[in-house]
Amino acid sequence: MSETWLTRANALTASLVETRRRLHRYPELSFQERETAALVARELSRMGLTCRTEVGGHGVVADIVGDPSGPIVALRADMDALPIEEASGLPFSSERPGVMHACGHDAHTAMLLGAARLLSEERERLKGTVRLLFQSAEEINEGAKAMIGEGVLEGVREIYGLHNLPTLPAGKTAVRPGPLMGSVDRIEIGIEGRGAHGAIPDQGVDPIVCASAIVMSLQSLVSRETSPFDPVVVTVGSIRSGDANNVIPSSCAMTGTVRAFDPEVRRELPARIERIVTRIAEGHRCRASVKYIAQTAVLVNHPGATEKASGAIDAIAGPDCRQVAAPTLAGEDFSEYLKRVPGCFFWLGSGPERDAELAYGLHHPRFELNEACLPLGAALLAGIAADRLGYGPLSDGSGDAAGDGRSA
Ligand code: NI
Repeated sequence: MSETWLTRANALTASLVETRRRLHRYPELSFQERETAALVARELSRMGLTCRTEVGGHGVVADIVGDPSGPIVALRADMDALPIEEASGLPFSSERPGVMHACGHDAHTAMLLGAARLLSEERERLKGTVRLLFQSAEEINEGAKAMIGEGVLEGVREIYGLHNLPTLPAGKTAVRPGPLMGSVDRIEIGIEGRGAHGAIPDQGVDPIVCASAIVMSLQSLVSRETSPFDPVVVTVGSIRSGDANNVIPSSCAMTGTVRAFDPEVRRELPARIERIVTRIAEGHRCRASVKYIAQTAVLVNHPGATEKASGAIDAIAGPDCRQVAAPTLAGEDFSEYLKRVPGCFFWLGSGPERDAELAYGLHHPRFELNEACLPLGAALLAGIAADRLGYGPLSDGSGDAAGDGRSA
């Protein structure tokens, strides 16, 4: 069957491209994916599937039921776009000012719809159920938790998902067991000083000098308090204070993002950040407050599920197409599913076939996606789910619902 998934997915190329471009033209921000969800629901019902809509925002959930007594394997795609003004110059560029599918979630949605079509045509042969999760609000790290809160993981044995990667050539995949992506946390720091004339600093308490010291000292968390072998990033991304060049303002507000790769290391960070911020503020006669908002866990691929997914990828696309993924501190709320059920998340190359490393990255206003990745993504999602449920002649009579027999 393995070759067949890709052959059959290739036959869907035109419709995958059309769906992706349509979504690309009309991107919607996190928790606003109404039209995207409506398109998904329409396509799924055309395949004869019953959908649950408005799940955890505008999420859409549908089950492809083969053998109802078999296990459930879930596949997930995210649907939201980013607040970025598109500068790709593509003929199907965003028609919504300031909103862009710069992370390729349009392609993820199209690929999962493609996988749904492939699987629904074969549903009698599935030895279980494939649950499709079209998720809202991945970009703000809230959609997965919202969907899980609505019970989408009930009965699910394993879950799989992918993300396109423009710096990896189309046709390639990258997989890794264990931690793949970092945790994502948000910090909000408030500093209270006392305003004064810019020429008479001794009459005031300068929150900007204090904020500067805090920004610099936070880096010592990484360089002096964390092992060089444990990746941590603390980035202060915004500083707001003051309006005039000759006035010392009374307060300053900063926001930042904190990333870690080891759940144990992450656990230490809130107290350390709080200590540095409040003590430095004290030293500058300011008062500081720190809000540490935990958003997304470290994405940890389960070794067993990763091995199975890798086997299915090799069977479908050939072992040459699979590389070992480099870890990254970019985050993904797919980690929330993996905290609860075993599974694997992997990269799908979406870059040019030559010099992919020079491609514009995810979240760039000139991000482009090589649409040659669409059928491969659909084939892999369908093939992995079917393989994990047990499918085709090789699994027949094996009594192994986990489908450990390769479908090659
Ligand atoms: Ni993304």
